[in-house]
Amino acid sequence: VDVRLDLFAEIERLKKEKNAIVLAHYYQEPDIQDVADYIGDSLGLSQQAAKTDADIIVFAGVHFMAETAKILSPQKKVLLPDLKAGCSLADSAPPELFRKFKEKHPDHLVISYINCSAGIKALSDIICTSSNAEKIIESVPKDQPIIFAPDRNLGAYLAKKTGRDMLLWNGACMVHEIFSLEKITKLKIRHPKAKVIAHPECEAAVLEIADYIGSTTGLLKFSQKDDAQEYIVVTETGILHQMQKENPGKTFIPAPPNNACACNDCPHMKLNTLEKLYLCMEYEQPEITMNEQLRIAAKKPIERMLEISA
Ligand code: 13P
Ligand code: SF4
Repeated sequence: VDVRLDLFAEIERLKKEKNAIVLAHYYQEPDIQDVADYIGDSLGLSQQAAKTDADIIVFAGVHFMAETAKILSPQKKVLLPDLKAGCSLADSAPPELFRKFKEKHPDHLVISYINCSAGIKALSDIICTSSNAEKIIESVPKDQPIIFAPDRNLGAYLAKKTGRDMLLWNGACMVHEIFSLEKITKLKIRHPKAKVIAHPECEAAVLEIADYIGSTTGLLKFSQKDDAQEYIVVTETGILHQMQKENPGKTFIPAPPNNACACNDCPHMKLNTLEKLYLCMEYEQPEITMNEQLRIAAKKPIERMLEISA
């Protein structure tokens, strides 16, 4: 007798029984994306977390994303399939060091990318994501000095785009930092009609050769409305699942990184699996819990972001 569990059916059953919603980031494995109620970029996911009337939010993403959901919806149970799913970019800004840095520049307004801990959010004036960052920066008076944290690549890209001279924290994403300009250039020679589409967490040299730069949702939408047939996709490979689903006739080539194993998966995002998703729904753990004072302090700059990007 085959006693294997049909995890898709079990997860659907648990969603109904527990009034739970599954939110997934585009970098999650395809099975998780297929079972999710909503798939999105960081902005879309935080908007969903703020407005859902589910009792349980199952966050298939990394810790700072689930934490943001808890900050916005404290009365809800927020589950993360693997509590160890962190983020190298968020880790590159320890709150105590950042506090000292901020104290040296008391006249600066702090805009932080959502990929940071609640501790950094609590030290920030406004949060942004890669899809609303320009708008957020533009909402600040031109003569206001700005600190941008924690991603130096996104910060440098935004400084160039908006013409603002921002003070940048020296953090980076381990996935987007390792794309190889040389290998992408070689690929372009073999695929002369392919468009290069890149996430702004990539280094400046890679962004310079990109035909389009945007958040994961931005990249997906571009691939739908653009008329090219081939794309070199310079971001984490998880996004290719939706690109291929939405555009069955087009070809999407993952951009090669410079490491020997040619792996551009995010090791944090990929800690979540369909099995862990099922188990966390069944046992309602691991759960995100937070100090209430920290939560309130971290909520203010996120709410400012949601207001500006509404
Ligand atoms: P977005 O989906 O908001 O573009 O973020 C990308 C990312 O690196 C999330 O960890
Ligand atoms: Fe963090 Fe980069 Fe992974 Fe996104 S892709 S979770 S920024 S390490």
